[in-house]
Amino acid sequence: MAKARPNLTVIGAGYVGLTTAIAAAMQGHQVHVIETNPERVADVRRGRAPFYEPGLEEALARSLRSRRLSIDTHNTSVPLAPIVMLCVGTPPLPSGAADLTFLDQAAYGVGRKLTPGPSTIVVVKSTVLPGTTQTVVHAAVKRGADPKARFEVASNPEFLREGSALKDALEPDRIVVGADSVTAARVVLSLYKKVKCPKITVNVRTAETIKYAANAFLALKIGFSNEMANLCERVGVDWYDVIQGLAPDPRIGGLFLRAGAGFGGSCFPKDVAALRSAFRKEDIPSPILDAVLDGNDRQPLVAVDLLRQEVGPLQGKRIALLGLAFKPDTDDVRETRALPILRALAAEGAHVVCHDPKAGPNFRKIEPTATLVPSVAEALRGAAGCIVQTEWDAYRRITPRRFRELMDTPVVVDGRRTYDAAKMKRAGIRYRAIGLGRATME
Ligand code: UDX
Ligand code: UDX
Repeated sequence: MAKARPNLTVIGAGYVGLTTAIAAAMQGHQVHVIETNPERVADVRRGRAPFYEPGLEEALARSLRSRRLSIDTHNTSVPLAPIVMLCVGTPPLPSGAADLTFLDQAAYGVGRKLTPGPSTIVVVKSTVLPGTTQTVVHAAVKRGADPKARFEVASNPEFLREGSALKDALEPDRIVVGADSVTAARVVLSLYKKVKCPKITVNVRTAETIKYAANAFLALKIGFSNEMANLCERVGVDWYDVIQGLAPDPRIGGLFLRAGAGFGGSCFPKDVAALRSAFRKEDIPSPILDAVLDGNDRQPLVAVDLLRQEVGPLQGKRIALLGLAFKPDTDDVRETRALPILRALAAEGAHVVCHDPKAGPNFRKIEPTATLVPSVAEALRGAAGCIVQTEWDAYRRITPRRFRELMDTPVVVDGRRTYDAAKMKRAGIRYRAIGLGRATME
């Protein structure tokens, strides 16, 4: 347990909260985390991260040893720090809008803990639509607080990616602080003294908007690539070769153009949908966002189509599905494209055998009837075809020979451009990849 009084309180030990807390502790801050789930608290105290994220447990252990990080439930006796960061989840409602219940509860809980004295800055790290920090968070803190307690709200959106979360948190490419007073901006920026990157200070609403614009734009880039890749597939052009001709143009850039089975995760699908719900509320058309979401719903089926082209009707066929996590190096299955792929295959009567190095248990929670096997060999053995949904390193290492030895028919559909097409073809694999361009293989 940390002894010194914290200068940062983090509410929520999820992907964002725990990573942010550990990064802050590593940068020398005294951090206290408040988390509702007692099992999570016990895990973190023992040095166990409640989810898989490379390097996080080692960093957690160091932070605990240095006594710069502590964690407790809401019954904690540790007083709030002058800066409180709200990092609770904002999951999607059926309408696409973000569910703000957790945020409201957490903000109210912070209000209840505020005491009269110097002003506390309540910083929202959760992704929320423009205006929410004022209308929901400020209102909820106020509702819970002693009328004499002083506080201000601010926004400090988080841009970390799962799989490289700690590195992204320690070396961000920019820091955005949204504050409606000079003091609040200064206090939040003081957390990042040791971080070298552009620091952008704007008002609260603008910071909230930056986060949505960033995620929607990245999702748009991927959506555009997927659409182009689908054309490339038909006209015999490799989309990845096209990228080489685009990337040197700084107006375009080469990142986030990887076409595949669509984007998943806790942010892109949910945030684009939430942003679209804001357009709907304002009665403004959002054809670009609509197209990004529609295209992303269709994209996993492109992988199934490619498979069908190679193996024919799927009824009764054994199909290996490699990769259940929404991306490599995480056990997160939120909005994973593996789910629509599995369901589409099953709807056509295929017997799908799934594997993932880390995400099996989480996938089981969202699809209890899925057949999961503990090894790649078991997934591939006797299969009439295979779809690779997540480009884990462990899958990159499967040699063409291994595919041939284990599978009944060596058909590999690569949903993430994991393999070298020429090598696969030379080894006799019937290899298809989204945007590879069939004619380039002939
Ligand atoms: C974050 C952001 O906050 C979200 O807005 C963004 O879109 C995605 O990243 P994430 O870190 O993924 O969410 O959330 P999650 O992993 O679900 O963790 C939230 C944690 O907060 C959980 O451990 C939950 O138990 C805890 N929690 C929730 C509290 O401690 N208090 C609450 O009142 C509610
Ligand atoms: C994203 C944002 O990148 C991050 O800034 C924000 O804070 C949270 O949301 P994350 O969802 O963790 O991060 O991972 P990311 O690497 O962005 O991948 C999201 C999805 O897009 C994955 O399903 C990935 O497979 C897919 N993707 C990514 C592509 O299909 N093509 C690409 O070129 C990049």
